[in-house]
This record gives sequence, C-alpha cells and structure tokens, in this order.
Amino acid sequence: MKRAPAKSSPPPTAPPARVIALLNQKGGVGKTTSTANLGAAFALGGLRTLVVDLDPQSNLSLHFGHEPTPDQPTVRDLFMSDELAARELVRQARPNLWFIPSDTELALVEGELALQPNMQHILAQRLAGVITDFDVILLDCPPSLGVLTVNALTFADDVVVPTQAQYLALRGLEKLLETVLLVNRALNPKLCVAGVLLCMHESQSSHGKAVVEEMDQYFAKYRGSGLPWQDASVLRPPVRRNIKLAEAPSFGQTIFDYAPLCAGAADYRALANELRARWTPLRENPREAATTGAAAQ
Ligand SMILES: Nc1ncnc2c1ncn2[C@@H]1O[C@H](COP(=O)(O)OP(=O)(O)OP(=O)(O)O)[C@@H](O)[C@H]1O
Ligand SMILES: [Mg+2]
Repeated sequence: MKRAPAKSSPPPTAPPARVIALLNQKGGVGKTTSTANLGAAFALGGLRTLVVDLDPQSNLSLHFGHEPTPDQPTVRDLFMSDELAARELVRQARPNLWFIPSDTELALVEGELALQPNMQHILAQRLAGVITDFDVILLDCPPSLGVLTVNALTFADDVVVPTQAQYLALRGLEKLLETVLLVNRALNPKLCVAGVLLCMHESQSSHGKAVVEEMDQYFAKYRGSGLPWQDASVLRPPVRRNIKLAEAPSFGQTIFDYAPLCAGAADYRALANELRARWTPLRENPREAATTGAAAQ
C-alpha cells in the first residue's frame, strides 16, 4: 500500500491544506463525480491533493480503480479508533493525488458517533496530522445532513454545492445553508460557501436558464451580509451533461485518464482553475508562498 507523502517532504512551514466539502443532501446530483474529477484536475495542476470518501456507498474509490478488501483500513477506522495514524489510511491514486476510501460499514458510524462527546470534531482532529502534507483536501459527503456531514463542515474552509439547475434545488439549497450557518456559528467560524456547481447541465433548457438566473440573484442579495455565503456564486463554467463522465468510473478512471479531451474534462479543468483563482494569493500557491516567505505578508 502506498502511503501519504512523507511528513518531511513539504517545507516545514507549509500552511494547512485548503479543505473543501462537496455537499448536497439530495442524492445523485454529482458530488462524487465532482470530487474525483476536481481532485484529479487539482493534482494535474500541481497541487498535492487528498480526496476523502465520507459516503458509505463508497463510490469515490471506483474512479481510481480501487477495489475495497476487508483487511484494508478505511475512513471508518478514522472515526472509530485513534490507534491508526491518519497517514496509514491514505493511499496514492495518481501522481499528486491521494485518497482515503470508505466502506459500507461507515453507515454504522452515524449511530455510534451520536453517543460520543465532541463528535462533530473527530474528522478535523484525526486529519490534523496530515493537513500540512497537502495543498487541498476534498471531502465527498453523503446525501444527508447527518453526523458525517457535520464532521465535514466542522473541518472545511469552503463548501461547494453540486446541484442541477432545477426549481426544487433552490429549496434544498436554503435548507443546506441553514445547516452551514449553524456549524459556522457553533463549531467552525472559518466555514464559508464558495458556491453552487452545476452538474449535468443543459444550457439550452429555458427552465435551467431561469433557475441559474434566480440562483445568481439569490446570492447577490447576500453580498456584504456577513453570512457564510456572502461571497458565494454560481460557479462557472457549469459541468455539461457528458456521458464520458458517467462511463469513466466503470473503467476505474478519472475523466483525465479516460477522455482527457472531452467536454467533461474541459469543464472540470476550468472549474479547478476558477476555484484556485478565488483563493487568496497565499492559498493560491501555498507551497510557493511558504518557501518565498509570502506567508508573512
Ligand atoms: N456531467 C455529467 N454528465 C453525465 N452524467 C453525470 C454527470 N455528472 C454525474 N453523472 C452521473 O450521474 C450519476 C450521479 O452522480 P454522482 O454519483 O456523482 O452523484 P452523487 O451526488 O455523488 O450521488 P450520491 O448522492 O448517491 O452520493 C452517476 O451515474 C454519474 O456518473
Ligand atoms: Mg456520491
């Protein structure tokens, strides 16, 4: 099993990774597809990237050709035991790209965690040991607002909400933002919402256009509000519906392995650039900042 990058490889002053939770309590909206392919795009762009599967469906690993076996530790071990160091759980998928797999038993963790004090902080505490090993950490959340998702929000800097441009998505978004606000106020004041990521987008649909316009107006209302989504927006470009994105995991591949020239690859590459451009200069190129002393400015 390949390990996480050695502790000594990043500069000693390396800043912590940017942590992004991909979250939507609605199922099948593109969370896992986006986590895998944004992660791959960040890695190809030179960022040391960790993706963490927080979903008992454990679909994320499929994109990397990983077949789970019963003896291999998973993210469940991260929650249920502190005997294994986080680094023991991290596997390398591609150059610059590592992942922590999940398994179906993670579903049991929800109930077990509910009995533990401080249960919202477990993920943040357990991944603290590897946070300076990476430039960016992506969290693939399950389709619920339960304990696993709250752990992701307690750890994250940013929330990205994969969704479709449909009227009901806006209603779900409001519910999700309520949860973000609760976590922001009670547990994680640095948490903010980067925006909505449109997946399986059909730009010709007039309903879709109307919903995107409504989402743009919704976020514009909150500029300067002090709420965690005051800087959020509909992220551009949308990810177009592209069959190659659905096919790639069945070959154990990311879109950049499977069809690097297709529209899906272009969209995720552009989105990764868009997200990076929003980070402060320090965060945009953390390793360079650390080595040039920009961190002090
Ligand atoms: N842009 C796209 N074009 C075509 N198919 C897509 C696209 N994005 C995602 N899909 C497909 O849609 C389905 C749902 O996507 P995905 O598994 O990423 O959603 P999810 O939000 O993670 O689901 P869940 O809530 O069950 O975890 C998958 O079959 C995936 O391959
Ligand atoms: Mg998923």
